Amino acid sequence: MIHYINKIPKAELHLHIEGTLEPETMFRLAKRNNIDLPYLSVDEVKRAYEFDNLQSFLDIYYKGAQVLINEIDFYELTWEYIEKIHRDNVKHTEIFFDPQSHTNRGIAFETVINGIKKALTEAKDKYGISSLIIMCFLKHLSEEEAIETLKQALPYKKWIYGVGLDSSEIGNPPEKFKRVCDMAMDNGFITVAHAGEEGPSQYIWDSIKLLHISRIDHGVRCSDDEVLLEYLKRSRIPLTVCPLSNLKLRVFDKMKDHNILELLHMGLCVTVNSDDPAYFGGYINQNFIELWKSLDLTKKDISQLAKNSFSASFLSLDEKQKYYNEIDSLE
Ligand code: HPA
Ligand code: ZN
Repeated sequence: MIHYINKIPKAELHLHIEGTLEPETMFRLAKRNNIDLPYLSVDEVKRAYEFDNLQSFLDIYYKGAQVLINEIDFYELTWEYIEKIHRDNVKHTEIFFDPQSHTNRGIAFETVINGIKKALTEAKDKYGISSLIIMCFLKHLSEEEAIETLKQALPYKKWIYGVGLDSSEIGNPPEKFKRVCDMAMDNGFITVAHAGEEGPSQYIWDSIKLLHISRIDHGVRCSDDEVLLEYLKRSRIPLTVCPLSNLKLRVFDKMKDHNILELLHMGLCVTVNSDDPAYFGGYINQNFIELWKSLDLTKKDISQLAKNSFSASFLSLDEKQKYYNEIDSLE
């Protein structure tokens, strides 16, 4: 089964590029950029990756991102991720970046986007991996700051496909970002939102009904609401689920308790993703493998999850069909 997981073509739809910063890269960039890290060794960093909840992770994740200063840092970060997903047979990736984590430290918006874009262009040229960029607003900051960031992004509209909402969920409900999501859609961006990771299922409803998002990131708390489950099934609004992330951030106590398979069998469009793989212990294939080990996924489950990853993507129908055919022709 591991061989099947490895070779099946797949798309990744929930990946924060800052969350691919491996401890070794963090040290290398800290040294190059003369940044003091609160850790003495790579091992000490790894030991710090014990999280109680989303916030305890975010505190460490935002500190890690401070080693990213120059365009080449963002380029190298993104390229390392591309090398990893090439090995995992990812054919298409829709990556998040958090501009505010960088602009708030005095890094120019263009430094960040230029570095990421350069690596993604090379990914297409060298490996045929296609990609889209989704810019996230940090929910713990104000809507005014999100609007300011949206304005900074407008000159790069051709490179940025959509906007998303991430960071602290509880206490930062979707309605806080209604105006900026409307402005983004008026400017031709699609919208997605993290919702129902730790927060209540009502945040999933509100992201759909108030913000008109195209996809929910995480969304696992939908299980608390029968009506919502039926709605997600009928509308085919996808959930980009991140199993190892959910385990590390204690959304589920054990992988055996994860609800992704139940949701898949109910007919919801769920997908498997790695979220912040350098922090949560594995890239996309590892997420599939851990699910297979704990939930006894069958080949049919795996191929359906891989098909869902393309179906839930923003690729064209022709491209989606090409990948469905490739998946069907695998042994
Ligand atoms: N949730 C919210 N914000 C995030 C996450 C997440 O899983 N990863 C990076 N930023
Ligand atoms: Zn996320």
